[in-house]
Amino acid sequence: MSTFSMHTHTCDELRPEDIGSMVTLTGWVWHRRDHGGLIFIDLRDREGVTQISFDPDNSGGTAFHTAETVRSEWPIKVEGVVRKRPEGMENPKLGTGEIEVLVSSIEVLNTAKTPAFQIEDRLEVSEDVRLRYRYLDLRRPSMMENMRLRSDFTFAIREALHKRAFMEVETPALFKSTPEGARDFIVPSRLQPGNFYALPQSPQLLKQLLMVGGVERYYQVAKCFRDEDLRADRQPEFTQVDVEMSFVEQEDVMAALEDVLADAFAAVGVTMPKPLPRLTYAEAMDTYGTDKPDTRFGMELHDVTELFANSKFKIFATAANSEGQVVKCINAKGAGRWPRSQIDKLANVAATFGAKGLAWIAFREDGSINSPIVKFFSDEEMEGLRAECDVEPGDLVMFAAGERILSCEILGGMRSHMAKAMELPLEGHDFLWVVDFPLVHWDEDRKAYAAEHQPFTQPEEADIERLESDPLSVGSHTYDFVMDGYEAGGGGMRVHNAELQMRILKLLGFTEEGAREQFGFLLDALEYGAPPMGGFALGLDRVCMLLAGCDSIREVMAFPKTSNGNDLMSDAPSAVGGKQLKEVSLRLL
Ligand code: AMO
Ligand code: AMP
Repeated sequence: MSTFSMHTHTCDELRPEDIGSMVTLTGWVWHRRDHGGLIFIDLRDREGVTQISFDPDNSGGTAFHTAETVRSEWPIKVEGVVRKRPEGMENPKLGTGEIEVLVSSIEVLNTAKTPAFQIEDRLEVSEDVRLRYRYLDLRRPSMMENMRLRSDFTFAIREALHKRAFMEVETPALFKSTPEGARDFIVPSRLQPGNFYALPQSPQLLKQLLMVGGVERYYQVAKCFRDEDLRADRQPEFTQVDVEMSFVEQEDVMAALEDVLADAFAAVGVTMPKPLPRLTYAEAMDTYGTDKPDTRFGMELHDVTELFANSKFKIFATAANSEGQVVKCINAKGAGRWPRSQIDKLANVAATFGAKGLAWIAFREDGSINSPIVKFFSDEEMEGLRAECDVEPGDLVMFAAGERILSCEILGGMRSHMAKAMELPLEGHDFLWVVDFPLVHWDEDRKAYAAEHQPFTQPEEADIERLESDPLSVGSHTYDFVMDGYEAGGGGMRVHNAELQMRILKLLGFTEEGAREQFGFLLDALEYGAPPMGGFALGLDRVCMLLAGCDSIREVMAFPKTSNGNDLMSDAPSAVGGKQLKEVSLRLL
């Protein structure tokens, strides 16, 4: 029996044992069926549904007449007696399906306009309308289920962290730029005209300062803000379960995280293996063409560079003989049955991943071969290819030739595309670590080195001497948590030495003054006995999306924004008046 409420039971609580009891229920009128002399209402609350019935003899005149007037989505309170449903009227799909409540009194708590869409799981309405009326959308059982799942998972992870002596500490939202690779949201200061706060892209710097401050084990369910192009798995504000530990080595942090994550997943009925499988960044790229592989299916990348070193097919031979280039392929088993027109379209898909072309060979089931390029291949090359890729009739082999990482990424993109197109069955969840990312990569747009994770990552100790001479060869203490082919979390060990931190900032293109201006407080703190430290942040929205089996994080956020960054319910962002602008010393362009 629930307490602190107008009702005695929720709408998912009554069972045959309760037959004969007087109960009070509250909820929304869901479906109402008027059977002449009898009225049935499915009463819905966040827990479930109970059928309530009204008949003119038992419900007295008033309750029955009120029941005739109530409409969908009116909130009501009813009192009545629990009784067995008549033979043949049970609903095995409902927990409460064997009983109903015969109402003796009803109180209408409010009326409701006709909703813009029906409160049903089956939806025939655009997402925009759902977002405009999110408070109605949330009443749909599947949305409520998502909210509950998120709450349960978040609670479990808090509990798992608390149990292991992690301390929850809140950090400010009005702060200074914390670079994580996106644009900052900025907030003008009224008290200091012309100056701005930046909303944190993550609590990264603050949690490092908490380690300097002696917190030792920190966590926070933290809002993060990033002004970047939005996608199904990206929102401008999202939530991280942010963690940091000090006096630890990388293996300590990863083991602690595995324990915490396994506990939290177990609480929602999902088994996460311990220890988690690991792939290095290089292995993940070479084998799956991505740093966040879904390993529930194979279709791995094959390196056929050597095989085509002397090929008559110039594109392959050129790549095979150029420094840093490769010839690689994947074998999509089954797609060799596709008609030519469908295969031809794959080049356009590959182009979206940066491919200049997509060479392919279809091995038809009748033993014939369809391909624009095999005419250039020797028998030896064909034999080698068949052996390397385990070719069978019905296979489609696709190639990428060129720079190594780009070629891998093209085939990694094609691998995911083909898995989706062929509807490969993906069972259960897939968890792994991808470790040992390079410290930096070359950013062609900015013509500068950019941090692969973030600027505070600890380089591999043995590589530090090559920081300036060969930065691309420097490894790092990093680990990403990959779930079902998504980057669900990431972290690493941190630099805790001011001098090394300055060297890295310079490598990333900062002048000494620029680095001091932006990160002086961090560099200062590192000079006051900063301990070795490392941590991690879990993308809570993404994990909940995957647990809920949805394909957008909007489905597990109460009030998400559209891909244009709009909140359709409140109409944010919106213009502000001249007075408000003046107060913060701003004038619009
Ligand atoms: P990172 O930038 O990898 O690391 O973020 C951690 C995780 O947060 C999730 N995430 C997002 N989710 C929704 N919308 C977004 N726009 C978005 N951006 C990121 C991802 C990602 O794996 N400070 C470091 C962590 C650390 O080193 O401890 C950080 O923020 O799931
Ligand atoms: P072309 O000789 O340019 O007509 O190319 C022959 C075939 O090779 C076409 O199917 C192209 O799509 C494909 N192709 C071209 N460049 C590449 C590349 N870098 N990697 C893989 N295939 C390619």
